[in-house]
This record gives sequence, C-alpha cells and structure tokens, in this order.
Amino acid sequence: METITRRRFIRQGAAALAAAGLTGLGPGLVRAAAGPAVREFRLRAEPARINLGAGPEFTAWTYNGRTPGPEIRVKEGETIRVVLENGLPEPTTIHWHGLPVPNAMDGVPGLTQAPVGPGESFVYEFPARPAGTYLYHSHARYQLDRGLYGPLIVEPRGSVRGHDREFTLVLEDWARVDGGGPEAARRRPPGAHGPMGRRMGRGMGRGMMAGPMMGRPGGFAGGPLTEPWYDAYAVNGRVFPEVEPLVVNRGDLVLLRLINASSSTIFDLALAGHDLTVTHLDGRPVRPITTEVVRIGMGERYDLEFVADNPGAWLLAANELGFGESGLKVPLLYRSNRERTPVRPVFRPGMVLAGYREMESLEPWGPLPEEGWRGFRQVLGGGMHSPYWTINGRVHPDSEGLLVEAGERIRLGYLNRSPMPHPMHLHGHFFRLVNPDLDRERWLVKDTIIVEPMERLEVELLADNPGRWFHHCHNLYHMEAGMANVMAYREGSLRSSAPGRPREEA
Ligand code: C2O
Ligand code: CU
Repeated sequence: METITRRRFIRQGAAALAAAGLTGLGPGLVRAAAGPAVREFRLRAEPARINLGAGPEFTAWTYNGRTPGPEIRVKEGETIRVVLENGLPEPTTIHWHGLPVPNAMDGVPGLTQAPVGPGESFVYEFPARPAGTYLYHSHARYQLDRGLYGPLIVEPRGSVRGHDREFTLVLEDWARVDGGGPEAARRRPPGAHGPMGRRMGRGMGRGMMAGPMMGRPGGFAGGPLTEPWYDAYAVNGRVFPEVEPLVVNRGDLVLLRLINASSSTIFDLALAGHDLTVTHLDGRPVRPITTEVVRIGMGERYDLEFVADNPGAWLLAANELGFGESGLKVPLLYRSNRERTPVRPVFRPGMVLAGYREMESLEPWGPLPEEGWRGFRQVLGGGMHSPYWTINGRVHPDSEGLLVEAGERIRLGYLNRSPMPHPMHLHGHFFRLVNPDLDRERWLVKDTIIVEPMERLEVELLADNPGRWFHHCHNLYHMEAGMANVMAYREGSLRSSAPGRPREEA
C-alpha cells in the first residue's frame, strides 16, 4: 500500500477514513488539556471471507474485515488508543510487537492481561515511542496465522525524511484453507510428507526427519501443531500478479518498510536492477549499509532505501530460506516506462547479504550501569523426534523464568542446538547484539533476532521496563510448542504490571 502523507490524510477526510477501515472512533485527534495528542483507532477482530487476488476465497480472521489490518500511523510522542472489539468465536488480545509499552498494555493473555472474550472489548493505551516500523498482532493461540496482524508506523516527530515515495510491505505466509490455522495445519496436500518433510527435506538430509512426526498431520495426537503447508506468499494481502506494484518516477528516493508478519517463513529478498540500502532494523537506525539480499525473519522489520535510477520493470522477490523461490514478488514499475514484464532478481551463491554482525547502531545506549551483567544461557532445542521446541530443555509454561532487577544489565546467551533457525523475540525491551569487533555504543539494536542452526550469539539489554515479559521464538508453531519463557522483574522492582489470570492456553 502506498502510504499517504498525514496532510493528505486529513484533507481526504471521512471518506478516506472509512476506506482505510478506520471508522467508528477514530482516528480522531483528541487533544488532552496539556498532555500529548491521543490518536484513537477501533480494531474489530472478526472472521471475513477474503481472497488474495488469485486462488480460492476462504475465511480468514481479520481486523475490520481485512488482512493485514489497517495501518496505524502516528507521530512519535503521541498516545495510541486502540479499542479492540472481539467478534471472534474465541478469546483474543493484541500485542504491539517491538514497542516498549507499559506491561499491562503488552497483550499477552494470561501473563499481562485476561484474554478478551468473544463479544467483549478492551482498550489499549500507550505512548508511541520511539519512532520506527512495528507491527501489531494477536497473541492468542494460532490467530496470527489466520490473518490477525497489521502494520504500525511511528513517524519521527516533526522531521521530513526526504523520501519521494514510501511503501509499507507486510509479508505473509498463507494456507488458503477455511478455518485457517489449526485446520490448515491438519491438512496435507496429496503426496506431501508433512510439514517437517517440506521444512527439512532440502539441505538437511532426509534421514533426519524419519521420526514419529512423519506423515502425521498436526504432529502427535494431543500434542502441538506443526506448520501448515503454505500455498501462497502474499504482500499486503495480495499475491502476484494481483499484488499492488511499486510505481515510481525516475530519480525518486524510495523507502520500503518491510514487515515479516508470517507465522513460520523466513524470507531472503532481493530487488532486480537495484541495490538496497538498509537504514533501520526493527525500527532502530543503523549506519546505512548497501546490500543485494536481506534476510527477514518472522517479527523482524527492515527499512530499506533505493534510488530509482534504472528504468524498466523489475521484481522485488523472495526466496524462502532453504527452499528456493517462494512466489512472493512485487513488481517495481517506472511511470515513464512501457515495459511491463518484470525482470526477476537472480539469487546466486556469493551474493552480498546484510548480516547482523556488519550492522552498526546509530543510537547511543544512554546511561548504563558499569558493573557486570546478569547472564542467562538459553539453549534452543527440539524438532528432531519430538513435537516440542524447548529452551534449556523445558517446554513453556514449565520453562525457567528469567528473574531480573530493574536497572540491571542482562545478557542472554543463545545457543541453537536444533536444526532450524529461530527468530527470538523479547517483549518490552530492545536488546543489543554483543559484538566484540565494535565499540559497545555501536552494537546493533533489535527486538527480534534470528539464531541460525548451531549458532551461538549473545544479546545484552538494560532492564528498564518492569513487568512480566514474554520471550519466545517468533515461529508461531514453535512458540505454541513450548519455545518460550518469561522475563520477570523481582517484586518491588515491579511497578506497572496488571493482575493477570494464569495462562490458559499453553
Ligand atoms: Cu510478535 Cu510475542 O510477539
Ligand atoms: Cu523457532
């Protein structure tokens, strides 16, 4: 979706609001007496018939009848207020992925709030800070994979970044099956070996998957589900060739905000005919770095810039990590150009991939306590002959908690002993990738980080947001199959947590 400027947005008035799905309460600009402006949105979670522009129509779970849900776009420092109405047949919540919100607004059912039941509503309110590219999504069961997510953009206050064109691209993996998530996960296309076969068959050695998972739809009886057989990869709810093209003028400086809202797909993306410059990861500014490919895990965001200096018709296309072409592609078209058959990027060995370790943050830490840190080893396991995914051999909710104190430096040392990559996400905080080659001030800032198979990496954070925070793999099926735990601030350092019910859905 091409993003419209706020001025145009206001000028277009009510009709545009209705078209954007933001009817009802907002986004009214309500100015409180002295405080920050409050921007109000209504998100109704409800099933709706959708199609992705091609292929069968099916029932997805949506916000306001569409998936992705409407873009929430505000200025840094404003207050976001969202009225969630639950029109689904089961409880739901919304999580503001990446934003360090107060704990009671974090949207994890049973941990930070009671689940919002069918027919009920809940009001979220929190400051929009810091500026960056985020997403919002349901944090209940398999709802994310059914379509309950949307983009959330916090623009820097007052500044104009000087882009001629800006596009928000939400990347999604879809199984076009009525009933969505669980139904899709139980389905097998004819001749399929099950999702583990698909996921691990190439490059991993087939012997590895000759376990009890084999050919068992949905994994063990009574156990957690495994990934569905995805049959479509969409951008902003459309599949190629029905996807909205990126239309530019020669000479434009273009900003792409990529958001991976998939439940279990990591993408490698490239744009034919153009190099991409990474300016932000997970919304945080980095020293700009030019690359041919970006790898984006579930829950990650990349802000990319390019200069439209090569007229023609091109494709931004993604490979699914380990499995080749995904079918996710978006045309880049120059207005002046007649050519309409786009050229796809060629993925070849040795392409330059923007790696975490080459990235340098442009944000200073702020005051850090000088003495050492409190460390937690996080061994990621599972996936061989078990349907469970583990941290330190444990399955959530029987996982070890990370007990911290406000003001401490915390280190998480990940070791991935499993055959799959895991994008690990911590709620309520940004963390930094420990990088001995860089001055500490330059360590990359993120909130979601892919830990590759057999990789060891460390992140460090400042415990500055008291509460009980979920920490998990952002593969939805790994999370639901146990790869999660809770970082909790010691009592007394707890200032902002709401009473929650015990987690009901593990
Ligand atoms: Cu997008 Cu608990 O995460
Ligand atoms: Cu995982």
